[in-house]
Amino acid sequence: MIRVLVLNGPNLNLLGTREPEIYGHTTLAEIEDGLRRRGAELGLAVECLQSNHEGVLIDRLHRRDFDWAIVNAAGLTHTSISLRDALLAVGRPFVEVHLSDPSKREPFRHVNYLQDIAAETIVGRGVAGYTAALELVADRTGDLPAAAGATEALNAPASPGED
Ligand code: DQA
Repeated sequence: MIRVLVLNGPNLNLLGTREPEIYGHTTLAEIEDGLRRRGAELGLAVECLQSNHEGVLIDRLHRRDFDWAIVNAAGLTHTSISLRDALLAVGRPFVEVHLSDPSKREPFRHVNYLQDIAAETIVGRGVAGYTAALELVADRTGDLPAAAGATEALNAPASPGED
């Protein structure tokens, strides 16, 4: 079964009450429950982690026990070369998600250290963006003959000789 790691960065634990006019009223627990349910329908094993600490997110990536990631790095998107480096180092494809569209907000949110290395970026679709990301992973992995072979092929350029 394809394993999907859903990573959410700083302050996303406050979804539901955090600037609801920008991020909506849905809580992170509701988003994660919905993703696990949709994942089960799609035949994907979904694991979710939120952290306010860059190093916790990086350490989780280093475990390399997933095939794809869905990443909303929140503010770290605009600041963290280290998170970018970790995503490159582990060599797993990922979909970048943002509830809002950072390119339509303050200029400091226009800097993005992840977009050019993401398989896809989904912005401005609110909670639906996470579901769309999961469906994209299902599309990208579902038509390949064997799950293990599929992920190896996807990861081959980024992690030669590893695993
Ligand atoms: C965000 C956008 C970021 O600019 C911001 O720092 C967040 C949330 C989003 O989902 O829209 O924390 O990633």
